[in-house]
Amino acid sequence: MSLIQRYRGYLPVGPSTPIISLGEGATPLVAADRLRAVAGIPPRVLLKCEGTLPTGSFKDRGMTMAISKAVELGARGVMCASTGNTAASAAAYAAKADLPCVVLIPGGAIALGKLSQACTHGARVLAVKGNFDDCLPIVVELTEKGDFALVNSINPYRLQGQKTAAFEICDALGCAPTYHAIPVGNAGNISAYWMGFTEYREAGVTRTTPRMLGFQAAGAAPMVLGHPVARPETIATAIRIGNPANWEKARRAIDESGGRIDSVTDDEILEAYEMLARLEGVFCEPASAASVAGVLKLSRAGYFDGADDAVVTCTLTGHGLKDPDTAMKRAERPKEIEATSEAVLRAVGLGEKMEALTT
Ligand code: F0G
Repeated sequence: MSLIQRYRGYLPVGPSTPIISLGEGATPLVAADRLRAVAGIPPRVLLKCEGTLPTGSFKDRGMTMAISKAVELGARGVMCASTGNTAASAAAYAAKADLPCVVLIPGGAIALGKLSQACTHGARVLAVKGNFDDCLPIVVELTEKGDFALVNSINPYRLQGQKTAAFEICDALGCAPTYHAIPVGNAGNISAYWMGFTEYREAGVTRTTPRMLGFQAAGAAPMVLGHPVARPETIATAIRIGNPANWEKARRAIDESGGRIDSVTDDEILEAYEMLARLEGVFCEPASAASVAGVLKLSRAGYFDGADDAVVTCTLTGHGLKDPDTAMKRAERPKEIEATSEAVLRAVGLGEKMEALTT
């Protein structure tokens, strides 16, 4: 069942809304017990693995709504600015809906997997000499004037779709988590989750809402600093944003929930990225690891002390395959060997042990 069908009662869709779906929704919520034990994190930690969505990121939840509504409202095409994942998702759903798609990306600053998706789905991809914050106002201007629909997260249907991740978490747990940790870029997703958590409480499905914990990359942390950042820099290119469009909404989510916004350095992001891959078997992209990096940071600072009965859910926003370059810059390269079993044993350092077993 598509996400729109499943949560229809909570979404602004009617009988005449076409459902443009790639089978999104129902992503796994995976217990991170090894990571929790190694890092000594007091609450239970669960990972909402959004990399398993059709185009490999959480954007598909919002895009099924945005593109379905664009078709319903008669848009002639769709347009977005993107650090990569929105572009990939918009391109795929636009292809499915037979709508032209134009994406503006910061030139040279988006991960290879995402670029390959947008280009292969047939979007017109334009590499702008500037960053994400330079791209978005151009898209706003052009879509206000023309009949292409804007599908960035300032499109309210995007957040409507994305809030369903909060529903899924509550449905899986049977209640709301105590804390929810999430990376923050343009600040749409944290706002969407908060909308989802509060709607479920208002509907009586849950009794509580979590404290929202938002994490920005240290080199792109306008909400932590309290002012826009002119030249955002981080290895987590997905969240390399200096002036988030949903700043106010996100601020409200953090304040109303009793949560906090914090920053994590690139080293902290990469530490979490590797721990997730090696301890949990979960390969996410660097920006996604910001949520877990933030939980590790807060845990070390004693924020969760005494919260052993609590549950912290962390959104892992995108799949690790989105950014193969970052992965291979850090990983050990394959060793070249002769095609013999002896060479294999020598290379993996097991030669003597294996001989001992066979003699
Ligand atoms: N994680 C990933 C993997 C992302 O791609 C993004 C945003 C975020 C986190 C932050 O979410 O913007 O709602 O706060 N990517 C956008 C894009 C900006 O263009 O793909 P946010």
